[in-house]
Amino acid sequence: LNPSPQVQPFVEELTQPPVIDISTGQQLTLGAYKIKQKFHPDLPETTLYAFGTSPETASSPGPTLVARRGIESYVRYENHIEDEEHFLTVDQSMHWANPKYGGVPIVVHLHGGEVLSESDGHPGAWHTSKGEVGPAFTTFNYTYANSQPASLLWYHDHTVGITRLHMLAGMNGLYLIKSPKEDPQNLPTEEFERLLIIQDKQLHADGSINFPTIGVSPKVHPSWCPEYYGDTIIVNGKAWPYMNVYPTKYRFRMLNAANARYFVMTLSHPKLRFYQIGTDGGYLEKPLKVKTLTMGPAERLDFIIDFSKVSPDSAVYLNNSGNAPYPEGDPAFSPPSTKTLLKFKVISAPENFTLPHFDIPSSDKLGKRVKIRTSKDTKVRRLTLTEYDDGNENPVGSLLNGLRWRDPVTETPDLNSTEIWEIINLTEDAHPIHIHLVAFRVKMQQSFDTARYSDGNCSLDLPYHDPGSCYTEAPQRPERHHLGWKDTATVYPGKVTTFVLRWTTREGEEFPFDATSGPGYVWHCHILDHEDNDMMRPLKMIAQNP
Ligand code: C2O
Ligand code: CU
Repeated sequence: LNPSPQVQPFVEELTQPPVIDISTGQQLTLGAYKIKQKFHPDLPETTLYAFGTSPETASSPGPTLVARRGIESYVRYENHIEDEEHFLTVDQSMHWANPKYGGVPIVVHLHGGEVLSESDGHPGAWHTSKGEVGPAFTTFNYTYANSQPASLLWYHDHTVGITRLHMLAGMNGLYLIKSPKEDPQNLPTEEFERLLIIQDKQLHADGSINFPTIGVSPKVHPSWCPEYYGDTIIVNGKAWPYMNVYPTKYRFRMLNAANARYFVMTLSHPKLRFYQIGTDGGYLEKPLKVKTLTMGPAERLDFIIDFSKVSPDSAVYLNNSGNAPYPEGDPAFSPPSTKTLLKFKVISAPENFTLPHFDIPSSDKLGKRVKIRTSKDTKVRRLTLTEYDDGNENPVGSLLNGLRWRDPVTETPDLNSTEIWEIINLTEDAHPIHIHLVAFRVKMQQSFDTARYSDGNCSLDLPYHDPGSCYTEAPQRPERHHLGWKDTATVYPGKVTTFVLRWTTREGEEFPFDATSGPGYVWHCHILDHEDNDMMRPLKMIAQNP
């Protein structure tokens, strides 16, 4: 793809998406609209599809929906996109929504949400503005239980085969579950608590989104490419914004909404550290003081930076050294423009303004300790990640356990049971694996010999020091950013990564809704180019002892 037009970074101030309280019991109607938005004063307007309560207020990211734990909320999703066809190239060789009467199908998923499957935004539950609906469609009116702990979730389009186009086109927004009782005391709040949603996009000179129109193997997939990477960093709908900060603590709650890019973040100032306090599913048990934060597509981070450690009038950059693809990248996909995400300008507080004092929570004040009990009777699923090519070394797809999206469901957990998923990555890249309905724990990861495994010459049942074992090392603790409740976690190449899942609420209780009804759930890779191209599988909850 041609480079995007170059613009001066850090000229516009970071903004926060508008906030809508959905804890009132009133139904909110959120529409998808075709809009134009300026990412930068020197860039022409970009055409997007975005969410809002009206065509005038629709924006990308869409409004932040704020719910309360324990209070149901109701959102009606409407499709007001009148286009006959998508403005980005749809690859029709893949399994995709394919509406008979034209139009742009959409369906909205609440990522990380503990929800009824009828309200989960099943990829086949799409609808168009012409009134046509997909095979899994049940309703426009979604109910969110908000039964889970305080956390940052997000909503985004999930239409089968075109999620990558829709996410790039702008159909996403944040969703906060608040639960003041769970909050540690004296965390930065109000203007000292900021939400950040990061994407990378490639733009044409006229401002429009540049997305491949010719694939890596056009005979197999006319326009599909294995991973989409952009050279323009967009934070909260602006290209490389800056943020003014006072010399005090700030809390950041961040989402990686990129199609495929991993961010490996550091702060440019040697005195500064990140204090990570939360992850996808809410607060960690203990804060982590770290120099680097890694975030794959769809993951969330909750962290504090203490700017009182640097002198006023200095500048601090949030840098990124993530390779693309991750972890062994091709430098061509990470041009210098992707190495800095955000600039903090540290300014002194005005004289008549007393800076509030905030705390970094001490270890005993954060989230609840969680231990999911497993035993030798716990059901274990071994699931592979594989990549296949077109015979000429062009990758043309990746699969979960060798199966496609439309193959019959194989992951059918018993409601209220616990399972262990050993995910065996036989590819050369990391894949952020996302499971709907529940959050899980990453238990461990362990390198293995992929060649011997593929030849059937070793076993994953034997400990690593046994000559017949495929493992090449002892089990390793998960990476630090994979502690806590995760709904999306990275499975590294050449490793078996073990998740522990409990098909209950986070507390181990029954869901406050019937999780066995409706079209069911899904699990998939959250590199959207993979997800759209069959790296997604159905997931169906089964009632115990029917
Ligand atoms: Cu963020 Cu199944 O999705
Ligand atoms: Cu993947």
